[in-house]
Amino acid sequence: MVRNVAGLLPELEDEDFYLLSGVEQGMRFSEWVQREKLPKFSDLTEEEVDYRLERCLKRGLIEKKTIQYEGYTLQFEGYDALALRTLVQRETISEFGSPLGVGKESDVYEVRSYKPLALKYHREGYTNFREVHKERDYASENEHVSWMYTARKAAEREHDILETLYPDVSVPQPIDQNRHAIVMEKMDGVELSRTRLEADQVLGVLDLLVEEIANAYASGYVHADMSEYNVFVNEAGVKIFDWPQAVTTDHENASEFLRRDLTNIVGYFRRKYPQHVPEGIDSDDVADAIEAGTFESVEADV
Ligand SMILES: Nc1ncnc2c1ncn2[C@@H]1O[C@H](COP(=O)(O)OP(=O)(O)O)[C@@H](O)[C@H]1O
Ligand SMILES: [Mg+2]
Repeated sequence: MVRNVAGLLPELEDEDFYLLSGVEQGMRFSEWVQREKLPKFSDLTEEEVDYRLERCLKRGLIEKKTIQYEGYTLQFEGYDALALRTLVQRETISEFGSPLGVGKESDVYEVRSYKPLALKYHREGYTNFREVHKERDYASENEHVSWMYTARKAAEREHDILETLYPDVSVPQPIDQNRHAIVMEKMDGVELSRTRLEADQVLGVLDLLVEEIANAYASGYVHADMSEYNVFVNEAGVKIFDWPQAVTTDHENASEFLRRDLTNIVGYFRRKYPQHVPEGIDSDDVADAIEAGTFESVEADV
């Protein structure tokens, strides 16, 4: 797990960030940035670089190797610190709060500006990155920066998709994005997986959810990872989140993904609320209707 760096921010100085962003810049060319190149990349003197390297190493923000040459690379924590600092400087974030969720591919924290927000650090490529790190002899360069690149691309993608979908589709409002981090509205409510709906709400919630899937389709996207874990419910309705893997409706597998999404959701409702989901609801019929733009309600055909 990646440590929460928010607590470190107050003790980090401008020059520490020059150093971190110097390492980040050097990593565009090579995973391990040579010590000699750091004064130039970070715009610091030799002595200052040594002092800052020491401080950042001690805090686990960077890592050092001395095989072949003395080199440095960012840890995910260092990358988090850079993103967080940028978001603070932009005044997107003014306070840092507690964890909202740890996913397979993300860490999500509550943050604040004038209202509660959610900060999601993307971790795509993380597991792979740690494994590679353990096993690797330092000879093989270049599979490296992929974790940084993969995580950043995922964040950019998720932010772009939220911007397209919001507010036509019920998704968290996107607020800002930097590096591998996105800031969005903090959702109220609970994950669908962690709630038990009242008998008389079951069909209504299923219907709302499928309506949002249809709305997203009409806005050009299929979620492609729909499940009870990526849906929040509250009194006001439902919200669908976790969009980085979504595909556009003209993607060659869009139809397959749409069908899988609907099968997952209808299947979940059927397993959890067998009494309340009519047999006649067929996820393929629903998918057909969504693709044709004629979807009205899951009960229409029952
Ligand atoms: N905007 C948000 N507001 C509140 N909680 C959130 C928000 N976004 C994510 N979470 C919480 O964090 C968890 C992981 O987020 P998610 O986007 O699903 O990432 P992953 O790809 O890791 O599954 C979610 O299951 C949810 O509980
Ligand atoms: Mg998720």
